[in-house]
Amino acid sequence: MRIGLLNGGGDCPGLNAVTRAVVRKGEGVLGHQIVGFRHGWRGLIAGEAIELTTDSTRGLLYRGGTVLGTSRTNPYKQEGDVDAVRDTLAREHIDVLIAVGGEDTLGVAHRLSEDGVACVGVPKTIDNDLGATDYTFGFDTAVQIATEAIDRLHTTAESHDRVIVVEVMGRHAGWIALHSGLAGGADAILIPEVAFDVEELAAQLQHRHARGANSSIVVVAEGATPLEGTMATQDAELDEFGHVRLGGIAARLALEVKARTGFDTRVVVLGHLLRGGTPTAYDRILATRLGLAAVDAAHDGVADVMVALRGTDIVRVPLADALDTLKTVPPERLAEAEVFFG
Ligand code: F6P
Repeated sequence: MRIGLLNGGGDCPGLNAVTRAVVRKGEGVLGHQIVGFRHGWRGLIAGEAIELTTDSTRGLLYRGGTVLGTSRTNPYKQEGDVDAVRDTLAREHIDVLIAVGGEDTLGVAHRLSEDGVACVGVPKTIDNDLGATDYTFGFDTAVQIATEAIDRLHTTAESHDRVIVVEVMGRHAGWIALHSGLAGGADAILIPEVAFDVEELAAQLQHRHARGANSSIVVVAEGATPLEGTMATQDAELDEFGHVRLGGIAARLALEVKARTGFDTRVVVLGHLLRGGTPTAYDRILATRLGLAAVDAAHDGVADVMVALRGTDIVRVPLADALDTLKTVPPERLAEAEVFFG
């Protein structure tokens, strides 16, 4: 059997661990040939294929990013691109394609499966917002990096009597903000699921400082939005899947907080730092288990499925389930964290 492998969407610590596991089991144990496609769907359109072997994928377990490369290309966007994908798959004699990605990449894999191209999905996003799996690899690493940053920001904020607004990734879901804010002892957490009131935030910080605190850390997810009409928001570019390119909420928020409270305020945007570098042990293990399960599914001839974490088990779910629901932060989870604000 010839099994194709691609990574799509934003890079994510653990992607290389998936590649290593797919090759180690697919080639080393099951005797299949593994073909990697560079740069996600863009590489499939362009025919950028490389043979992957156990020897060529050594040392990948702890390496961040993706050696295959990735892109946010959507083959259903441009006339002729899906045909180009099919041509590449035929030329490379691919029986099953393993697509590692978030809702966009998996959405393409599902459409292709419906069109007769056998695909197996592996969920990936540092945002942890895919409904059909309990956790995605990369999330734990992102939370760890953000928490370490918040720990450090506490001491400099205390030294200068400052409010520091820390912006983390999280387009539609505030999991990274919630978890790193809880782990790092943030004094306010703003997430996309709950529109924030800047007046309320300013009052909350003032109350805290009146009670003796001399500094505060506010963690804000990049996708957090103010209550309508309370603060200016920026227009931004769209990518090929129609997503807004985010970033900048912390800077605007800091100005508003300073104007209302007079506190000395600073901004730190963690952004892509959260996606770079080596994965945590948890993410290496999750990525490895998902890679092994994906190649097993391919070997079994199962298509249009995604491998997913449910509890401590890796299971197969229909690819369509992965696209069904976005896993957002329930308001009661934010309420748990609110105990520690003030
Ligand atoms: O999709 C995951 C993610 O990390 C989001 O949190 C973020 O909004 C986006 O990718 C950033 O994408 P890019 O690296 O293309 O700017």
